[in-house]
Amino acid sequence: MARTQQPESAPDYAGFARFYDRIMGDRTPEINRIRSYITSHRPGARSVLEFGCGTGALLAGLVESYSVTGVDRSPEMLSVAARTVPGARLLQADITAVALPYRFDVVMCMFDTLNHVVTVDGWLAVFQRAHEHLSDGGLFIFDVNTTGRLRRLWDTPPYLDEFDGNVVLMTVQPGRDTLSLWETKIFAHQVDDVYRLYHERIYELGVPLGQIRTALAGRFELLEQESLDGSPVSDESDRVFFVYRRRPVSGANRRPALPVS
Ligand SMILES: C[S@@+](CC[C@H](N)C(=O)[O-])C[C@H]1O[C@@H](n2cnc3c(N)ncnc32)[C@H](O)[C@@H]1O
Repeated sequence: MARTQQPESAPDYAGFARFYDRIMGDRTPEINRIRSYITSHRPGARSVLEFGCGTGALLAGLVESYSVTGVDRSPEMLSVAARTVPGARLLQADITAVALPYRFDVVMCMFDTLNHVVTVDGWLAVFQRAHEHLSDGGLFIFDVNTTGRLRRLWDTPPYLDEFDGNVVLMTVQPGRDTLSLWETKIFAHQVDDVYRLYHERIYELGVPLGQIRTALAGRFELLEQESLDGSPVSDESDRVFFVYRRRPVSGANRRPALPVS
């Protein structure tokens, strides 16, 4: 597998956090998709761990049904999550290295969070962390921006929108090595014609789907893969969703299940 260097500026969402939910809009379709995967493949699930939970927008839609835990490295995103989902356990950690003392029925990593990990070794580490935190038969649910979609975005005109008197401008360009650089500029209205600029630079790595499947094959069983628009899954699809089941590995996981009341 190809390897890439960590760019100097890692994503931190410090300025973006306060606007994130407003810009991303209604997340109900994605919450329903996750619910349907869990209901189909692990109907008795009680606990969900999200890698890269951000503002908790997805956990908020699951907390009524499951005991939810979120991990993220951005303190600003976690502080929004703490307000949005007071019932969630939240932990600041890097998902390539996180080690919780429990295992869960579901581990999910959604909305390009995996693409934010900018080395292939980092993806492999996240896959291993998912395996370590899952019960035997537990589900690993994640999505990815494909290599094709990221490449297409390089040629897409900037996204420009206005919300609550603020302006958001988003572009995707080729970054260093094979990375894509998402630049988000938010011109936040202060007073009269005065705006404050919040500038976020987020790098994403695309990994060919075949490499993802190969990396997971030994420890996980592929249950479902589908593209956002339902067309056949390929490296040219837009977002692709994967549902994997953890295979039991003898003696590998001695963590107790998360106690759920
Ligand atoms: C696009 S947001 C998705 C948030 C959430 N999953 C959602 O669906 O709204 C990506 C999140 O992943 C977090 N993140 C990126 N890389 C991470 C890493 N290595 N460890 C922990 N969190 C990470 C970012 O801080 C950010 O909150």
